[in-house]
Amino acid sequence: MNDQLYIKATEINKDKMSIKNVSVIGAGTMGNGIAHVFAQAGFNVTLIDVNATQLEKAITTIAKNLDRQVSKGTLTEEQKNNTLQHISTNNSIADGVATANLVVEAATENVNLKLAIFKQMDAAAPAGCILATNTSSISITKIAAATKRPELVIGMHFMNPVPVMKLVEIINGYATSKEVTTIINELSKQLGKIPCTVNDYPGFIANRILMPMINEAIYSLYEGVAGVEEIDTVMKLGMAHPMGPLQLADFIGLDVCHSILKVLHDGFGNPKYAPCPLLTNMVTAGKLGAKSGEGFYVHTPGSKELIVSSSFK
Ligand code: CAA
Repeated sequence: MNDQLYIKATEINKDKMSIKNVSVIGAGTMGNGIAHVFAQAGFNVTLIDVNATQLEKAITTIAKNLDRQVSKGTLTEEQKNNTLQHISTNNSIADGVATANLVVEAATENVNLKLAIFKQMDAAAPAGCILATNTSSISITKIAAATKRPELVIGMHFMNPVPVMKLVEIINGYATSKEVTTIINELSKQLGKIPCTVNDYPGFIANRILMPMINEAIYSLYEGVAGVEEIDTVMKLGMAHPMGPLQLADFIGLDVCHSILKVLHDGFGNPKYAPCPLLTNMVTAGKLGAKSGEGFYVHTPGSKELIVSSSFK
């Protein structure tokens, strides 16, 4: 257990406090991955979601992903059980954050929802508790401004799949204190991750670079330069990317890609970030990638086979 991490005195909390209790808000793909890695590192995790079915599904997913690690020999059965014992669930934000030293919000990528959640978290979490967001592109400064503790608000952007991907992109808001940045960097290392600290501008670094690449791949398809498989094969074999950009877009969710591109477009006012009309059309048609069963590819649960959607054959 990590007793050695201390939140230093801040204007709000003059006492030193160790991070032991971590609450994670949102039990979707990112939330369950974040709960998984904190619990595996020995933190007491409270996973919070208003939807009880989603919470049950999240625990089943975490157990399945831990089983994968056990079968690969990277985790023992005992460590798996310990990890699961470190996770409890709660339907209420107010109850779930009451004893937290750190809250990581991983709710849906919707600015108004996040602002409302941060107001609730701020009112219910103990003084001195750090409030982090896993947002992939929404301004940390804006989220922090919804609270009375902006110096304790920070971006902690994990990558999907969280148990596998090494990076945590740490984003300093305008008011984030240096001490909080140091604590979150150290904490990320204790999760076995590699932190990288960046400043709060649209898309931060990960999505400022990734999304224009994905958008350009979609433009290449839209303009008929090449087909889905050709575009992905060039990037997989030519640049050693584990997934081609169109497969990755399906994996991330086309709606998420679209909304991040809009954040870049609005934030910089530069037409180079405008989402490709094909992407907009696909999102409007409900073709969202893996989560809806179809995007550039057709996705069948449990199958790894890549079948190009009939729209692009
Ligand atoms: N939990 C635990 N382990 C998992 C896992 C999970 N959810 N998913 C996969 N794994 C493990 C597997 O057990 C396997 O382990 P070993 O290497 O020890 O055998 C390993 O990860 C590889 O998995 P698979 O063999 O099943 O599949 P793969 O080789 O096709 O790899 C992948 C899957 C890791 C997802 C790989 O395709 C990849 O790296 N893709 C790119 C992912 C990426 O770019 N993520 C960032 C997306 S952007 C983002 O998240 C941020 C944003 O803001 C949009």
